[in-house]
Amino acid sequence: MKYTVSVLQFKPLFLQPQKNYDKIKSMLSGISSDLIVLPELALSGYVFAQQEEIAQIAESIPTGQFFQAFQGLSQKLNLSIVYGFAERDRELFYNSSALVNPDGSYHIYRKIHLFYREKLFFEPGDKPFFVAEAKAGVRIGMMICFDWQFPESARSLALKRAQIICHPANLVLPWCQEAMKIRSLENRVYSITANRTGTEINGEMSEYFTGQSQILNQKGELLIRMNDQEEGIYSVEIDPDLANNKQVTEYNNAFADRRPSMYYLP
Ligand code: ACM
Repeated sequence: MKYTVSVLQFKPLFLQPQKNYDKIKSMLSGISSDLIVLPELALSGYVFAQQEEIAQIAESIPTGQFFQAFQGLSQKLNLSIVYGFAERDRELFYNSSALVNPDGSYHIYRKIHLFYREKLFFEPGDKPFFVAEAKAGVRIGMMICFDWQFPESARSLALKRAQIICHPANLVLPWCQEAMKIRSLENRVYSITANRTGTEINGEMSEYFTGQSQILNQKGELLIRMNDQEEGIYSVEIDPDLANNKQVTEYNNAFADRRPSMYYLP
């Protein structure tokens, strides 16, 4: 099956969701793709000093203004969109990603492994990793940024039959892009890591984000890697069905050969 997947990298403006949305919308104009992945917290930026900042920009689902705008964009452009955002659920906040589909269906993932100061402001995800259908029934799983550190994240998605791992990110450590090669290889799945760029400063705090957004095939090979500065969208045609094949040699299957009773997984 031919399926075009895309990654978007940019530098969001801190606490400026309307400007960030407008920029994403103009970057997407004229795109021809089936699935695109945007960075983590794409509408708000990342370097929060206090929870009140998150309260200003967090959205409830499905009533959120920008959530509905992304739904409209998905329908207009006929592509599935995965983007990261701050989610409000009553008085709690989650670092979430949304999958919005052209047919109006949607799914929300709440980041399970919070990184660094995120722990001060967000609740850890309260629902297990899941797989959902994107455009044309392609099976995708979402994980967010630091979830890469835990091999169980990608493994759970792959065991639930994800073909593509969609991975919005705001990466500050230097290891993820290389590590994701192994996540794709060991699970035999495509992965799309959409990172942001730039340095964000908030008072005393600042973070430099590493860019290098990438799309990997089910062998862990780079199909696309952006540089650490550029803003833009890159697309590539893949065959998601290749991720259904877990055969390594005539005698070995990456999943059927697993020996869970021999593993130590407390
Ligand atoms: C991260 O999880 N945003 C590093």
